[in-house]
Amino acid sequence: MKTIFTILSGTALLFLTFTSASVASDCIGCHTEVSPGMVQDYKVSVHAENDVTCATCHGEDHNTAEDYKKAQLPAEQVCAECHQDQFDQFSHGKHNFGWTSLNAIPATHAAPDELIEGGRGCGGCHNMGIKSEEQKKDQLAKGYRYQTNSCDECHTRHTFSKKEAQNPRACQQCHMGYDHPQWEMWSSSKHGMRWFAKQSGDLPEGAAAPTCQTCHLPDGNHANETAWGFLGVRLPLPDDEQAAADRVTILKALGVLDPETGNPTPILDAVKAVRMAKLDQESWQKERDKMLKTCSQCHSKSYAKQQLDMGDSIMMKADRLMAEAIETIAELYKDGIILKPANYPANYPFLLTFMHTNGESWDKDLDKLSYIDQILVQMYMKHRMRAYQGFFHVNPDYAYWYGWNEMTKDLGEIKELARSMRAQHGK
Ligand code: HEC
Ligand code: HEC
Ligand code: HEC
Ligand code: HEC
Ligand code: HEC
Ligand code: HEC
Ligand code: HEC
Ligand code: HEC
Repeated sequence: MKTIFTILSGTALLFLTFTSASVASDCIGCHTEVSPGMVQDYKVSVHAENDVTCATCHGEDHNTAEDYKKAQLPAEQVCAECHQDQFDQFSHGKHNFGWTSLNAIPATHAAPDELIEGGRGCGGCHNMGIKSEEQKKDQLAKGYRYQTNSCDECHTRHTFSKKEAQNPRACQQCHMGYDHPQWEMWSSSKHGMRWFAKQSGDLPEGAAAPTCQTCHLPDGNHANETAWGFLGVRLPLPDDEQAAADRVTILKALGVLDPETGNPTPILDAVKAVRMAKLDQESWQKERDKMLKTCSQCHSKSYAKQQLDMGDSIMMKADRLMAEAIETIAELYKDGIILKPANYPANYPFLLTFMHTNGESWDKDLDKLSYIDQILVQMYMKHRMRAYQGFFHVNPDYAYWYGWNEMTKDLGEIKELARSMRAQHGK
């Protein structure tokens, strides 16, 4: 097979002539010219050693510089042809809901497409999960062709390395920042500090240092899930009367329960579909028991259990602050001091707004979001998250200063604002 390249000097144009149209194309030959870095990554992969070729994943239909859109971009099903176990495990884990839960949030549809389908905002991290044919069609209809595969989020293409995915840094890109700073919490905890000490050779290879993968993908199982999950609410309600009432208030503000009747709303179905909250004791207990078993590899069971129980009880205490804040603002809605934004499900505060905006947003409905509502969203998304996630990730500073302490400050601010808004409206 002979391919003749003529690169016009001074331009990036590439002319290709084939001696025969019927010969299989030389993917590596041509791509060594057009994208050498990529070919190099492929060459150091285990795939290259095992005769998994470019065409195995991308098909053979594209073979000139012009017809590149004929190349298939492989979804997870292509990987499943040879890695059925990992595919099946992944399908049952929470990562498989990334794209669907993102699209279930109303705010998503108010954000610019570049940040969603384009994958440089919410969509950059939520490109986790096998997309349905319909989801792929929606994405293509908006002109976005890439972001097809989830497996390469941890096993970066085209090295597709196992070792890379075992490094906790493989999680950092997404599990960081505003509402889920697990990287920051873990890396500055005792657990993370031990891992870094090992990395720099200050501790021997065999020293114990749990990574994200130790606790969340035990035994290399790709089905990741935690007991509480992100929203930090669940059923059944706690036995304590106050704690139960606080949980109900939060469920109302999540739009899951109707604030008037207390009955479930259609949002509950969306939450159920992607397992955003555990709805019975068994499913919660199962994940908690798995985690406790992992801790017990290095700690006594009772020590570890006490640590996890404290995480649960700090969440109840954080919920007391949360509920008081929600109720304060709910009264402002009731008295007509704040007007319901059109995209809110009820005349009540709504935590799944996921945004802080007033005045310059993309979506004019969100412009109506009052400042006091923005503090509430921040109290839930940023500070309550840190208070309880910091506890579970053994990070004292996140649990207290960035979490609990900020929540008390938010509550104080909300109460003060409510007072002055009432004075302003004479109510
Ligand atoms: C004659 C040169 C040539 C050959 C042969 C060739 N490619 Fe390409 N390919 C290109 C160029 C150039 C691009 C980039 C086009 C662009 O982005 O403007 C490309 C793009 C791609 C893309 C990205 C498609 C997209 O939608 O962005 C994939 C995947 C790909 N090639 C795989 C292959 C595979 C697999 C083979 C072998 C079956 C192959 N290529 C053979 C030149 C070639
Ligand atoms: C094990 C499967 C696999 C193999 C083997 C493979 N690719 Fe890919 N390739 C992927 C995946 C997955 C993507 C990302 C698709 C997406 O998410 O849209 C991709 C994306 C690409 C892209 C477009 C993205 C970019 O960064 O430009 C090009 C071009 C490409 N591959 C070329 C090649 C070439 C050339 C080879 C052989 C040297 C090759 N691929 C081998 C799986 C593979
Ligand atoms: C045609 C079969 C085939 C396809 C398709 C395929 N692989 Fe592989 N893969 C292999 C073989 C063979 C190995 C090496 C033996 C093994 O570990 O099973 C391997 C190894 C791996 C490894 C371990 C690498 C290491 O460092 O030890 C990862 C990760 C991986 N593949 C991911 C993927 C992903 C992701 C896809 C889809 C984008 C994919 N593979 C598609 C055959 C395939
Ligand atoms: C490309 C971004 C990305 C990477 C990389 C990533 N995650 Fe995730 N992870 C997510 C998203 C998005 C979710 C939420 C999925 C959903 O919507 O249900 C999630 C959810 C989780 C959950 C489930 C929490 C719950 O709700 O119970 C765990 C545990 C988790 N990830 C651990 C990890 C670990 C460990 C790694 C590294 C080995 C990792 N993730 C790498 C994006 C990522
Ligand atoms: C930096 C990466 C990243 C960005 C950007 C991001 N997310 Fe997430 N998102 C995650 C991770 C990681 C999780 C899981 C966190 C956890 O469980 O603690 C998550 C969780 C969620 C969940 C809860 C899923 C569940 O099952 O509980 C929703 C809904 C969500 N994100 C929506 C959004 C929306 C809407 C945006 C944009 C406004 C966004 N995300 C931006 C990484 C990201
Ligand atoms: C959240 C990060 C993450 C994602 C996403 C991910 N993997 Fe993995 N994968 C890992 C980790 C970590 C390991 C190493 C497990 C271990 O220590 O045995 C691994 C190991 C593997 C291996 C090597 C298994 C072995 O025993 O040698 C294969 C093959 C593999 N993954 C395929 C896939 C496929 C296919 C997908 C997509 C369906 C995928 N992975 C998605 C993190 C991930
Ligand atoms: C020592 C074990 C351990 C390590 C190491 C660890 N986690 Fe966790 N993680 C937990 C526990 C415990 C929970 C809470 C489980 C529950 O709900 O009962 C949790 C919860 C989570 C959640 C759900 C939301 C939350 O924060 O409560 C995500 C997402 C997560 N971890 C990601 C990570 C990532 C990413 C890393 C690495 C940067 C990591 N974890 C390191 C033990 C660990
Ligand atoms: C792979 C081993 C390993 C696993 C698994 C593990 N730890 Fe640790 N943990 C350690 C080591 C080592 C230390 C430092 C020595 C010590 O304080 O016991 C530590 C320290 C701690 C500390 C004290 C932190 C401090 O700042 O003093 C707490 C609390 C803790 N771990 C809780 C947990 C919990 C909860 C789990 C399970 C979710 C867990 N650990 C899983 C190895 C582990």
